[in-house]
Amino acid sequence: METLRMVTVVAPVNIAVIKYWGKRDENLILPLNGSISGTLSTNQMCAKTTVSFSRNFTRNRIWLNGVEETFENRRLINCLNEVRRRAKEQGKISPEELEYNVHICSVNNFPTAAGLASSAAGYACLVASLSKLYQLDGDISSIARQGSGSACRSIYGGFVEWIAGDKNDGTDSCAVQVVDSNHWNEMRVLILVVSENKKKTGSTAGMQTSVATSELLKTRVSQVVPKRLADIKQAIYNKDFKTFADITMQDSNQFHAVCLDTYPPLVYMSEVSHAISDLIHQINEEAGKTIVAYTFDAGPNACLYLLEEHVPLVLAAVNHVFPTTQNADTYFTGIPVTLDSQLEKKLPKIVERTPWDPNALRYTVHTKIGEGPKELTAADHLLGANGHPTPM
Ligand code: DP6
Repeated sequence: METLRMVTVVAPVNIAVIKYWGKRDENLILPLNGSISGTLSTNQMCAKTTVSFSRNFTRNRIWLNGVEETFENRRLINCLNEVRRRAKEQGKISPEELEYNVHICSVNNFPTAAGLASSAAGYACLVASLSKLYQLDGDISSIARQGSGSACRSIYGGFVEWIAGDKNDGTDSCAVQVVDSNHWNEMRVLILVVSENKKKTGSTAGMQTSVATSELLKTRVSQVVPKRLADIKQAIYNKDFKTFADITMQDSNQFHAVCLDTYPPLVYMSEVSHAISDLIHQINEEAGKTIVAYTFDAGPNACLYLLEEHVPLVLAAVNHVFPTTQNADTYFTGIPVTLDSQLEKKLPKIVERTPWDPNALRYTVHTKIGEGPKELTAADHLLGANGHPTPM
């Protein structure tokens, strides 16, 4: 049997602090505005993908989380075609190999059902693994962008900007690192997964309706985002948490205001999401300074950015207001935390609040800013020597 050429990569999730919402080109996935996100450590959440090609593969095939999916997916095909086009140009792969079919096997280590940014990690992982298989040089974020816009930011670690670009062919629309993952080493992220299973309009369809109907989106793109991008980058360079947090919360709020200004309106935040936002403002007020920021994507889950020193207090406050009946290891995952036992002394007004009924939150994840995609060794391959998924 021939030895298959095979590559396995893990890639991170990213959470935007300046949101991408609205495209100027649907097929190339070109955004109306630039955006900035933090890349999260793959230790807690990641996608993992193995890719291989062979003369013996009779067709292109893809397995996601153990289930074979159709390859008839325009975004998937666009990514593969662009990788092959560049591989042909760069000439490291033989013309025969460029014709071989591929097998792709991918898994997420976090529940996709939770509505966490799984497409960003998934497409970043797909493109990073294919790019290694086809030995591509140069920036690959503009390929990942063609899978899912936000995926281009998962190609780099630290804080990352997706430059909107203005060319029609999209060649100037790619991600660049603002600072690496060590620059603001104290930064932590708490993800609060809200219990709610209502089907929401996906990002792709939602943003189309916003572009077609929201006046506020036009103002946001032309008048608001450019200054915010410049200001939040400066705050990140200076490790100025207050400015970073204010802009992050304001931008999340404006994104959801655009959603409500869309017609018919897009309602992504739930009652619990609003209660979390309210709690964060109360914590900052009682603490006498801004110690934590929230941001919400196209769903009800909250993502909190905060510094390491404040995690014990903020998490104690969250746990007080949103109690759980679950046991600790299924409810809380990620970097261990010893809760602050002085909650009552430090944030007395929060302790006086009547807690929510138990289990408004499904689970919480504690993570930090991390690095971009990483190649793993043969021990991690998800495809066996025959090119088919190994049992999970
Ligand atoms: C609210 O990248 O999922 O998370 O490009 O259509 O695949 P497509 O959309 P997607 O949109 C993400 C929107 C967001 C904001 C953000 O991540 O910047």
